[in-house]
Amino acid sequence: KVRITEDIEPAVKEQLLEAAADVLRRGGTVAFPTETVYGLGADALDSEAVEGIFRAKGRPQDNPLIIHVSDRNLEEYADKIPLKARELMDRYWPGPLTVILRKKDIIPERTSAGLDTIGIRMPDEPLALEIIRRLGRPVAAPSANISGRPSPTTYERCVEDLDGKVDMIIGGGRSTVGLESTIVDYTVVPPRVLRPGGITLEMLNEVDPSIEYMESFTRAGSDEGPKAPGMKYRHYSPKAPIIIIKGEKNKVVEKIRTLVQNYMRDGKKVGILAPSQRAAEYVFDGGNAIFIGMGSEDRPHENARLLFEALRSFDDLSCDIILSEAVKEEGLGAAVMNRLSKAAGFNIIEV
Ligand code: TXA
Ligand code: MG
Repeated sequence: KVRITEDIEPAVKEQLLEAAADVLRRGGTVAFPTETVYGLGADALDSEAVEGIFRAKGRPQDNPLIIHVSDRNLEEYADKIPLKARELMDRYWPGPLTVILRKKDIIPERTSAGLDTIGIRMPDEPLALEIIRRLGRPVAAPSANISGRPSPTTYERCVEDLDGKVDMIIGGGRSTVGLESTIVDYTVVPPRVLRPGGITLEMLNEVDPSIEYMESFTRAGSDEGPKAPGMKYRHYSPKAPIIIIKGEKNKVVEKIRTLVQNYMRDGKKVGILAPSQRAAEYVFDGGNAIFIGMGSEDRPHENARLLFEALRSFDDLSCDIILSEAVKEEGLGAAVMNRLSKAAGFNIIEV
C-alpha cells in the first residue's frame, strides 16, 4: 500500500507504477485511484485474475465488470460500435463515461458475467491511465469497496475496505467527481442511461439527443428492459438506515428537526446530511446529533464529491440513524439523488 503524492520523486513514481503493472501482469489485483471513485483492477482478459476481484470484494458472481482502457482502439474488444457511441467517447473520454457495447470473444465470460455485452471506460486520472498503458491490456475494475458499501473516494477509505484482501493498493488524491461513471447502454435502441453520473443527460444529449434516462432504468424488477445488474443490489449503504426528506426547504428543515428531537429522546445518535448552508439550522441542545455538510446546495459537484465520504463518516461516528435532505434532481443532482435514494433503500418522506 502506498500513496503517490504530488511531490514524489519521478524515479520512485516510475518504480511504483511499474510494480503495479507487474502485479497485474502476474494475474494479481491492484486498487488505484480514478476521477470517479477508486477502482480494484485486474487484467480484464485473464479469467483467474478477474476472479480475484470478485473474491476480494465479496461481489455477486452475476455482476459484470467495466473494462478500463488507455486508448481509443476498441475493435479488439467491442463489436458493431454505433457511430454515435464513438462520437460520445471521442467527446467525453477520458472521463466519467462508460459505454456498453457488444463484446468480442476475447473478453472472458467471467469479466462480463456471462453477458454478451461489455462496459468500457477511459478514466481521466493519470495514475490509472499509466498503469493500464503499462499493462498493455484492458483493466477490469469495479469500485474498490467491499460489496454494498459506499465506493471509496480516498486512499484511506480504499485501504479501510481492501487492506489484506488485494495484492497492491496505489493511492492518489481524492476522486474529483466522487460518484461512479455514467453508464450508457448502446446495445439497445434508443440508447439508455443505466446509471447517472458525472456526464449528465444534458451533456449526453448534446452529442446524441436520442439517449434516454428514466430513474426506473436504474432499478431492477420492472420490465423496462436490460439494466445494469449491479443496480439491483443494496448499494452505497452505511450501516445506519437513512431517511431522505424531500420538499419545500422550510418544511424539510422543520421535519428533520422534529425527527432529530424524537430520535434523540429515544437515546439515538442521529446523523444529519444537508447542504452546508443549513449548518446553523441543525444545532440541538445537549443531544447526540451530528451534522455533516455536503457542500453548497447550489453546487451539485460538491454534493457529488462529498456524498460517499459523508456516508462513511456517519459509520465512523456510530450513528444509529441518518436523516438527509434531498437535493435537486437537475444535472449532476440526478446522480447524487440516485445514489442517496439507493443508500436509503428508497426510504423517502415527502413534506
Ligand atoms: O466510475 C466507475 O465506473 C468505477 C471506476 C472504478 O471506474 N467503476 C464502477 O464499477 O463503478 P462497478 O463494478 O462498481 O459498477 C459497474 C456497474 C454495475 O452496476 C454493473 O452491473 C454495470 O456497471 N455493468 C457492467 N457491465 C455491464 C453490462 N455489460 N451491461 C449492463 N451493466 C453493466
Ligand atoms: Mg460499485
